[in-house]
Amino acid sequence: MGAVAKTLGCALWGLETALVTVEVDVANGLPHLAIVGLPDTAVQEARERVRAAIRNAGFEFPLRRVTVNLAPAERRKEGAGFDLPIALAILRATGQLRTDPDGLCLGELALDGAIRPVRGAMPRVRRAMASGITRAYVPVENAGEAAALGAEAIPFASLRAAVDHFNGVATIVPVAPPPPGRMPQWPVDLTDVVGQETPKRALEIAAAGGHNLLFIGPPGTGKTLLARALPSILPPLEPDEAIEASTVHSVAGLIDPDRPLLVARPFRAPHHTASRLALVGGGTPPRPGEVSLAHAGALFLDELGEFQPSVLDTLREPLEEGAITISRAGGAATYPARFVLVAAMNPCPCGHHGDPGAECTCLPDAIERYRARISGPLLDRIDLRVHVPRVPYDRLRSDDGREPSAVVRERVCAARSRMLGRGVRTNAELGIAGLKRDCRLDADADALLADAMRRRRLSARGYHRLLRVARTAADLDGHDRIAADDVATALLMRAVP
Ligand SMILES: Nc1ncnc2c1ncn2[C@@H]1O[C@H](COP(=O)(O)OP(=O)(O)OP(=O)(O)O)[C@@H](O)[C@H]1O
Ligand SMILES: [Mg+2]
Repeated sequence: MGAVAKTLGCALWGLETALVTVEVDVANGLPHLAIVGLPDTAVQEARERVRAAIRNAGFEFPLRRVTVNLAPAERRKEGAGFDLPIALAILRATGQLRTDPDGLCLGELALDGAIRPVRGAMPRVRRAMASGITRAYVPVENAGEAAALGAEAIPFASLRAAVDHFNGVATIVPVAPPPPGRMPQWPVDLTDVVGQETPKRALEIAAAGGHNLLFIGPPGTGKTLLARALPSILPPLEPDEAIEASTVHSVAGLIDPDRPLLVARPFRAPHHTASRLALVGGGTPPRPGEVSLAHAGALFLDELGEFQPSVLDTLREPLEEGAITISRAGGAATYPARFVLVAAMNPCPCGHHGDPGAECTCLPDAIERYRARISGPLLDRIDLRVHVPRVPYDRLRSDDGREPSAVVRERVCAARSRMLGRGVRTNAELGIAGLKRDCRLDADADALLADAMRRRRLSARGYHRLLRVARTAADLDGHDRIAADDVATALLMRAVP
């Protein structure tokens, strides 16, 4: 007659989660530990870890036939989070644990019996809570994540501590929910940037309306500096966005245990040598890439022309869908990926094409090839394209009339509220119907737009892009109707064809 025990774990695949019952049967027979229920290879490795951890923590590993079943069997299960529920179920089945663990169990075991943090604690605890399970036994480092979601998070440092807790030898109290984080100090403020009024205005419009933005200009004019000032003017995360973004960071294993919930919008700046995997995610088990880590925030691609065109091509799906699906042998995984793209590049390989201050040394076809690295479909997704010219020396020395980021941020937040009031998150998301509904122009604006359409031979797509940007300019000015000024601003923001 075998002894059976059950604990509760949670499977994770991409961002998908499913509660998993860990059943352990200890029966007479040759000593053996088998794990069944379609486990990943990393779960298979749990056998060795669980066996060593149980012994090294001073408990007895049964010299009998031990079968662990992870149910439901058809679910993919990644990683090491099942070590703790497996070990506790074995100890319970062998009578070494005197009560049933009554909550979600999550943790990886080290060979000496210490409990290590796991990736993806946040989505797993969320899943348990959605099923009415509010208690979670978690590694110490993951306790903040669980508590931030409102769970009763019991932190375990070791298997010994866990057993002592369940046996009433040394009870561990739940961790207090972490205090709300504060906005960080930004490395670059808009006051650090001299001149560049049009690029700054573009940055403000991008922050308010969620429009993608490209800076083009010669070396050393402040393109990188400007882009790095963007986080300082972005509005704070909405509560639902904070959970979404933090969940992606949790799955990537990038949560700060003391500040588990993100407060500021993420700003990710992958280097141009970044691989496709690093940028869009992937691998087995799947991991989110930079586009998903930038979710609800911004993705900065500096030196855009230096990225592999094939890597840039993979940006099309997230830019269109706001999400990315990664197909893998083990099953597809989808991660959110809605971000503002900010990119910077030189106009040509030497950087001086169109620069009145220096001679361009590039051959015409070299310039052509350089530009062709940015594909049409990618460029189509960039509403704002502005030149960043050289700033004259006497301007660089003066410091008048520079607006601090905090002031600009107020305007950005007010504009976002106007958009929310119309039922859209950002104007960049406005489709054709939304543009029709929300973009009423006054007579002067209408005349200016009609004239520009004719003279610049704008396509329907170009027209819609202009309208979206003009809508954001009007929101920043607090107008319901789009005025001629707003159209003029939008026209200024697409200097680059
Ligand atoms: N408009 C500006 N205001 C203040 N400082 C500036 C400005 N432009 C450039 N600088 C100074 O020059 C440095 C280089 O600027 P930045 O790296 O932003 O140039 P860039 O346009 O990105 O050049 P590159 O094309 O070579 O990447 C900055 O760190 C800053 O100190
Ligand atoms: Mg730069």
